[in-house]
Amino acid sequence: MLRVPALVRLGGGRRYRDASWGARVRWLCSPRPPQPVIAAKEPFPVELQAGKNYAWCSCGHSKRQPFCDGAHKREAPGLAPLRFTPARAGPAPLCGCKRTRTPPYCDGTHKGPEVQGATPAPRA
Ligand code: FES
Repeated sequence: MLRVPALVRLGGGRRYRDASWGARVRWLCSPRPPQPVIAAKEPFPVELQAGKNYAWCSCGHSKRQPFCDGAHKREAPGLAPLRFTPARAGPAPLCGCKRTRTPPYCDGTHKGPEVQGATPAPRA
């Protein structure tokens, strides 16, 4: 919830003061964290191996989708890949829109208007 500082009237005069008593409000002072870009509007079907380590791209800038190629260091320094080790081998849909609530796996969020109405990140 967004809290807007209230003004407090001081004494009987016309002086007012911020109710936070001068405390810095974090959301006004901090830059917005980097947001992932949409790499694809659908999941990437991949064949995973049990016990193997993977790094799922969470920023959307990797050219090796759905896996990390280190592009987040240059394009989205505040984001990092999600490292995971599947317990079972087999096919899995890994999220391409980077909006899933169950990373790295697709949860169907890509079917919503936020993803389907957006322009995917350009590929070089
Ligand atoms: S591709 Fe992201 S939720 Fe399906």
